[in-house]
Amino acid sequence: MPADTTTILVLGDIIGRPGMRAVVSSVKSLARKHRADLVIVNGENANDGFGITADDLAQLQRAGVDVVTTGNHVWQDDRIGELLDREAFLLRPANYPGSVPGHGFALFDRRKPPVAVINVQGRVAMPPIDCPFRVSRETVKRLRRETPIIIVDFHAESTAEKEALASYLDGDVSLLFGTHTHVQTADERILPKGTAYLTDIGACLPANSVIGFAPSISVRRSLTLIPIRNEVASEAATIHGLVVTVGNGDGTARSIERIQYSSLV
Ligand SMILES: [Fe+2]
Repeated sequence: MPADTTTILVLGDIIGRPGMRAVVSSVKSLARKHRADLVIVNGENANDGFGITADDLAQLQRAGVDVVTTGNHVWQDDRIGELLDREAFLLRPANYPGSVPGHGFALFDRRKPPVAVINVQGRVAMPPIDCPFRVSRETVKRLRRETPIIIVDFHAESTAEKEALASYLDGDVSLLFGTHTHVQTADERILPKGTAYLTDIGACLPANSVIGFAPSISVRRSLTLIPIRNEVASEAATIHGLVVTVGNGDGTARSIERIQYSSLV
């Protein structure tokens, strides 16, 4: 792509050890292959399927990941507050109460123009939380003073809620993608005012699994309604995500492509 554009590689929710192995071993070559200037991953399930630790984050950063977004499972580890406060490029959803640790957006300014990343969480079929629409609008307004390139990870269950937020922010952000449901959708497109959109980018998860977890346990949970603890399936992972290219001048999207790779490790 020409130099007046920025290309960003985004990988979906990393599920446990198989997801971590796949991402850590291949993110550099994927970034090179797609000529990505920046890499974003959702890491909220990196630690055995629930949450993320300082060690997980360090491994991802060493492997070439620039920004890590999360979601409702980020709070799993007691030490996460300290980590969220310390790490500028590890995000939690911006629409949690202001008193909770961490931050919901980052301005990645090691390159020009900078790339802003916002993390928000849905509230349809999810725990109650502040309005993602109002919080996104306010955050976008603030970040547009710094850069035209704004990326939104909307960690949400509902397709309708994701499409509605994308329409609401169309033209004001470069890309809005969904995470959380772990299954990649096939509806990538550029909206009328220039925002690239994909309802769910999918996850980095064991290929033979129920959204990343062992099928046998998921079946038992469904048959018995007993909340047996889920365990991450053990097979090698498939990586899902997207590549977006945006204009440096106005931040509008030029292209969006879904990606899927099988990992050998
Ligand atoms: Fe989630």
